[in-house]
Amino acid sequence: MSELTEITQKPPLEHLAIIMDGNGRWAKQRELPRIAGHQQGVEAVTQIVDECVRHGIRFLSLFAFSSENWGRPRQEVDALMGLLLQYLSSQRQKMLAEGIRLRVIGDLSRLSEPVQAALADAERETSQGQTLTLILALSYGGRDEIMRATKKVAQQALDGHLDINQLDNRSFSTFLDTGDLPEPDLMIRTSGEVRISNFLLWQAAYAELYFTDVFWPDFDAVELQKALDDYLRRKRRFGLTDDQVKGE
Ligand code: FPP
Repeated sequence: MSELTEITQKPPLEHLAIIMDGNGRWAKQRELPRIAGHQQGVEAVTQIVDECVRHGIRFLSLFAFSSENWGRPRQEVDALMGLLLQYLSSQRQKMLAEGIRLRVIGDLSRLSEPVQAALADAERETSQGQTLTLILALSYGGRDEIMRATKKVAQQALDGHLDINQLDNRSFSTFLDTGDLPEPDLMIRTSGEVRISNFLLWQAAYAELYFTDVFWPDFDAVELQKALDDYLRRKRRFGLTDDQVKGE
């Protein structure tokens, strides 16, 4: 079995989630403006998307802009939104040709009209993609997502469309932004920080975590392979015993 096939077999890696961190520090090390780090970060995104396609990973979630990132200087927020728009237009042809489907999660109502429109267009145009679903978390916070889902549940109950006693983990998760998506199997964070910072809080309950000191702009195919190799050595038990997992 080739290395590439193996990654889709044991343990299965259907969904990879990444907290892309360290763009600012990457730029600072080189005495460049922070935005240069974000620009280089987009190059890393492009490469990692290609690698996920090559590895047969079906879902890739990227934490591109958190609810808290709105507090950054206006110039940096605007630059990040500009990079996002550029990314969408530059990748459009490739996404269509390679069957990459775009999905966006987060409180999109806070994004500007042009950004919302570009995202909606890209989601619609790529909706038939079967190879990889690229999930961009924008204006996203895990607690905020859970809170918005809870409000939807409460409203449905108030309207008499939902019996609260029937609600369980599975049905609740359908109210999240990721309602129809599988949970992440592996979550990577770059730049040496060892926390998940409000990313996919509900969904990552059983995700394997991988932390690397490498700054996001330097995260490439080789670094991804290291993370995948590490994941392959993990034993996933989901709260069960070893024997149960082996089916003995
Ligand atoms: C964290 O680095 C990164 C972000 C807040 C933004 C991530 C955005 C990109 C990689 C570019 C845009 C993405 C797409 C999909 C087009 P940081 O700025 O917090 O770095 P620092 O902790 O070193 O300051």
